[in-house]
Amino acid sequence: MPLVPMKKVLDEAIKGNYGVGAYNVNNMEQIQGIMRAASETRSPVIIQASRGALKYTNMAYIKYLAAAAVEDNPDIPIVLHLDHGNSLETCKEAIELGFTSVMIDGSLKEDSKTPTTFEENVRVTKEVVDYAHEFGVSVEGELGTLGGIEDGVGSGKVMLTDPDEAVKFIKRTGVDALALAIGTSHGAYKFKAKPTLAMDIINKVVEKIPGVPLVMHGSSSVPQELIEIINKYGGRLEKTMGVPMESIKEAIKRGIRKINVDTDGRLAMTGAIRKYLGENPGAFDPRTYFGAAREAVYQTVKGKMIDFGTAGHAGDYKPMTLEEMKRIYK
Ligand code: G3H
Ligand code: 13P
Ligand code: ZN
Repeated sequence: MPLVPMKKVLDEAIKGNYGVGAYNVNNMEQIQGIMRAASETRSPVIIQASRGALKYTNMAYIKYLAAAAVEDNPDIPIVLHLDHGNSLETCKEAIELGFTSVMIDGSLKEDSKTPTTFEENVRVTKEVVDYAHEFGVSVEGELGTLGGIEDGVGSGKVMLTDPDEAVKFIKRTGVDALALAIGTSHGAYKFKAKPTLAMDIINKVVEKIPGVPLVMHGSSSVPQELIEIINKYGGRLEKTMGVPMESIKEAIKRGIRKINVDTDGRLAMTGAIRKYLGENPGAFDPRTYFGAAREAVYQTVKGKMIDFGTAGHAGDYKPMTLEEMKRIYK
């Protein structure tokens, strides 16, 4: 089936009370590792590319890598999503490329650092919604800001989402999914100790406006064993903690439907490549160490598909025509 819009996949996740991982990709091995995990676990999957990924892949490559994933996995619903779009222009570019979902992160200005006002966020998000829905493309918005600036997205200040504002925001913009700030942040260095997330925000939004899929960014668990492999083979990462899987499962029970993961894939690949080259100092065929990295992404993502409850749900999504897709937004 062709790439599918995110709204339908997340609507099915609401009905089935499970979460769908959105995995950041920049190259073929990541996509292949993720798709092998999706195919083996029969999971719908969201493949997302950041603006950095679009630049790195020179855009066309990401489009055709996603097309290859579709051709190779005809019965797995695959969403191609723009992560942290910063303007209507960027979202238009992604839609032009064939993305079936875009995020407009109107919580920050175009510099992706300075927080916006509520009204500014509503204005840009609504513009993107009006544009994207004409093409059958889904839109994710964000209200509140995450901590963490090391990957260049974020103000460094945490501003948790106000549930009353979230309801107003959803009604005024018509977004198909909303990212909440509940205390997570991007990158590997999230917490020094086991975190307490503001889980009640999820319940409050769901109570006030049920039926809207909620999104959690900064959801990598930063597994200790991956940090240990990296450090054992010459890396130097500091002691850190991510979001425990138990907290993610709790968030899914309460109404989180899209779970954004980038860092864990990066850690898995880095660990595998370091280990391979450390153990095989004579190796110089990139297929050997990129192959090991692909295997590590597969293992990591497969575990998440099982833990998020996505496994076994590939059949929930029924293929649609463009006209049918447009109608889902009315
Ligand atoms: O939200 C940020 C994602 O982890 C993407 O990171 O901009 O370095 O590709 P990136
Ligand atoms: P992590 O850095 O926790 O993987 O979060 C990724 C993310 O939220 C991408 O939008
Ligand atoms: Zn994010």
